[in-house]
Formats: sequence, structure tokens, C-alpha cells
Amino acid sequence: MTDPIRLGIAGLGTVGCGVVKIVQRHAAALALRAGRPVEIAAVSARARNKDRGLRLDAYAWEDDPVALARRSDIDVFVELMGGADGPARAATQAALAAGKDVVTANKALLALHGHTLALAAEENGQAIGFEAAVAGGIPVIKALTESLAANRITRVMGVMNGTCNYILTRMQGAGLPYEEVFREAAALGYLEADPALDVGGIDAGHKLALLAAIAFGTQVDFAAVELEGIERITIDDIRQAADMGFRIKLLGVAQMTGRGLEQRMSPCLVPASSPLGQLEDAMNMVVLEGDAAGQIVLRGAGAGEGPTASAVMADVMDIARGRRGPVFGQPAAALAQARPASSSVPAPYYLRMALLDKPGALARIATVLGEAGISIDRMRQYGHDDPAAPVLIVTHKTRRAALNEAIGAMAGTGVLASEPVAIRIEEV
Ligand code: NAP
Ligand code: HSE
Repeated sequence: MTDPIRLGIAGLGTVGCGVVKIVQRHAAALALRAGRPVEIAAVSARARNKDRGLRLDAYAWEDDPVALARRSDIDVFVELMGGADGPARAATQAALAAGKDVVTANKALLALHGHTLALAAEENGQAIGFEAAVAGGIPVIKALTESLAANRITRVMGVMNGTCNYILTRMQGAGLPYEEVFREAAALGYLEADPALDVGGIDAGHKLALLAAIAFGTQVDFAAVELEGIERITIDDIRQAADMGFRIKLLGVAQMTGRGLEQRMSPCLVPASSPLGQLEDAMNMVVLEGDAAGQIVLRGAGAGEGPTASAVMADVMDIARGRRGPVFGQPAAALAQARPASSSVPAPYYLRMALLDKPGALARIATVLGEAGISIDRMRQYGHDDPAAPVLIVTHKTRRAALNEAIGAMAGTGVLASEPVAIRIEEV
């Protein structure tokens, strides 16, 4: 057997501890599969004396992750601290400058600085592995860069934030309002330190931008992702969508069109009976479409200690075996800058509003839609105790711009009791 591969792990939280456990528990199998022992040389975290339920005394300790990244006794710097900037970015840059390979679970870092980091890594033939950064334990980066490498990818879509899927499916299953389930998710430790990253769609947007870069051979461009979170979804939306045969999901879609790269992460309605509609709790699902392979559906745990550490170790094992591909599947220097395009593909929409209950109110709304060229597929008015009547309209396919125009015109009808909520119905 050849020399061991030596890891320096910065961050001993949920994922870092998961990685240490795998290295400790599966040492013999890892050595056989990699053809060399996989060892931890040094670790770093903020609180040295914190009880992490692990034996760490065999490893050198560094208070400073940058110092860890530069140690001469490590081969791979494993960044598991998080954050787009600060110590994660500084230590990753230091590791690359010191000639180390890098493995990270940090989607924020790569979504914002991935291209620059990839250029730096590839200049000297180093790797940056980030399987764990997208959809936790689901091997989606490998699927795109390896298994589907011979395809022209036509579309990438999926549910990539487990916390949002938990909130939406729990609202649906227990009939609870958003605020109550949000508190429940916080108590369960599901939310990121800044919950807006989850419920605002930002975390999932980071992941979508990374997948789009690989799928379409473009520089990662998170700023171009059209983002909308789940904060405005009410229990009434969930119920009424179910009534029409749909589920609400925070869904990401990326596709290359003649006008440029469309990337959007937003709440969508999907058929309740579809695989995405059936996705429960904190699970993730990624759908990849290739011109040769057709549609591939990957489902699994998108977060948590075991699944995320498993993905980190997949990258470590590749490096241990001497397999170092380009970070985004093709040389970073050859990645084109994407021309961003806003979503123009027509789709049916779900439209919820409250109308003053007086003669002609519904007719006025129907007229506004008709004048904008939007045809109504289905319409329901629900029984109510309030003066305002809850009304639900499902449109035929239309463009978002036409719908926005119609919603603007509705404000002038004098019959709206609340601002309409529009949610795209995605064909999956
Ligand atoms: P976490 O539980 O909050 O752990 C973060 C770790 O980083 C802690 O051990 C912390 O030290 C250490 N740390 C923070 N700032 C540091 C600094 N300045 N110097 C040294 N150490 C520092 O986070 P996590 O959930 O494991 O997530 C780690 C990364 O994986 C993030 O990028 C996250 O987005 C990503 N990720 C997480 C999951 C998941 O399920 N949790 C899934 C996919 C990807 P102390 O322990 O001493 O405070
Ligand atoms: N906050 C993320 C989620 C963690 O809920 O999916 C995994 O990236």
C-alpha cells in the first residue's frame, strides 16, 4: 500500500463530526477502496474544549483554519465551517496557494467565488470537490460530471432545500400555519444560522447555480438566479392547491434557451401524484435531463450528518485514488459567461386573491385577465365568514410578464381585498 492521504478538517460541527466518524469507523474499508490509508492529521474549530462526543486527541489542533490549511502534514484541506467569505474563503485560498487539494460542503462559498477558486486550483492541477454542497448525500455532481458527461443537458430541476420541503409538507400534513411550522423547524435544528438562507430560497439558489454551471458549461452565476422564498405561502394556499390536485414545492429550474440561461428558484405547484409532489419531509430530489440519457431522477437526504459526510468522503476518495477532474466538469478557463435570461416559458398559474363580495367583482377580474390575453382554466370561490371572498383561479399557459401586467391592472378595479398571490404550475 502507498502513503496515506492526510486530511486537515476545518469545522467540527454536524458535517465535520460526521466525516471524523466515517474515517474512524471505516478505516480498513476506506484504505482498501482508495488503495491507501485515509488519515486525519489535524483539525480546527472555534472551541477547542467543546465536547463533540468524539476522540480527537490523536489529531493536531489548530485554532486558525488558515494555519491548518498551510500545514505541511496535510494533503487535503476539508472545509466544513461554512460562510461565503471570512475564514472559509481565506483558508480555502491558503490551501490552494499551499498546493493542497480542497474538499468542501460550502455551497455559498462556491456559488459566489467558485469560478475564481476553480481557476486557482486548475492552474496547478489541484482539485476542489464539492459533492456535499448540493443536495447532501445525493451524488448529483458525479452524475453530471461523470455519468452524464456525454450528454447535452437540456434541463436541471429539483427540490434542493430540505428545510423548506419539511416546512411545506408539514403544513400540508398537519394543517398547521407557516409560522408554527417555522418554529417547529427551528426547534428541530433544521434552519441555517440565518433562516433567510433557507426560507428565502438563497441556499437552494446557490445549489441550483452550481448545477447550472456544470450542466451548461458556464461560469457559476448566482446573481442571475431569479429567487423567491416560501415566506408568503399560507396554509390556505397549501389547502387550495391540494384541492386542485397539486402540492407546493420550492422548486429550482435551470435551462439554456435561445435567449440565454434561465435559472429560477421559486415556489411552484406540481401535480400531487408526481415524484416531486410525493417528496416528503426534509428529502431532496434532483431531476436531470440529457439528450442521450433522457430523464434521470435522484432522490435522497439533502442534509444531515451522515448523508453530507458521505458525500464529503466521496470526494476525498477520488483524490486519494488520484482522480482529479476539472472543478465544474470542464476546464474553468473554458467556461463561458452565461447570458442571463428571465423565465419566459409560458406556464399555467395558480392565482389566489380575496375579492369584495359585491355584484360584478369576479366579472371584473375575469375581464382584466381576458384583456391581458390570459385564459381561465378553472375558478373557485370558497365559502367565507369575512366580508371578502377567497377566490382561486387556475389559468391556461401564459407568460409571467402578462400575468404581472394583469395583476397590476387588478389593483385599479376596486374589488380586491388583498394583493393576489401567483404561483407557477410546473409541468414535471
Ligand atoms: P456547523 O454545525 O455550524 O459547524 C460549523 C463548524 O465550523 C463548527 O465546528 C465551528 O466551530 C467551526 N467554525 C466556524 N467558524 C470557525 C472559525 N472561524 N474557525 C474555525 N472553526 C470555525 O455547520 P455544519 O452544519 O456542519 O455545516 C458545515 C458546512 O457544510 C456549511 O458550509 C454548510 O452549508 C454545509 N452543509 C451542511 C449540511 C448539513 O446538513 N448540516 C448539508 C450540506 C452542506 P465550533 O464547533 O467550535 O463552534
Ligand atoms: N439548510 C440546508 C437544507 C442544509 O435545509 O437543505 C443542506 O444544504
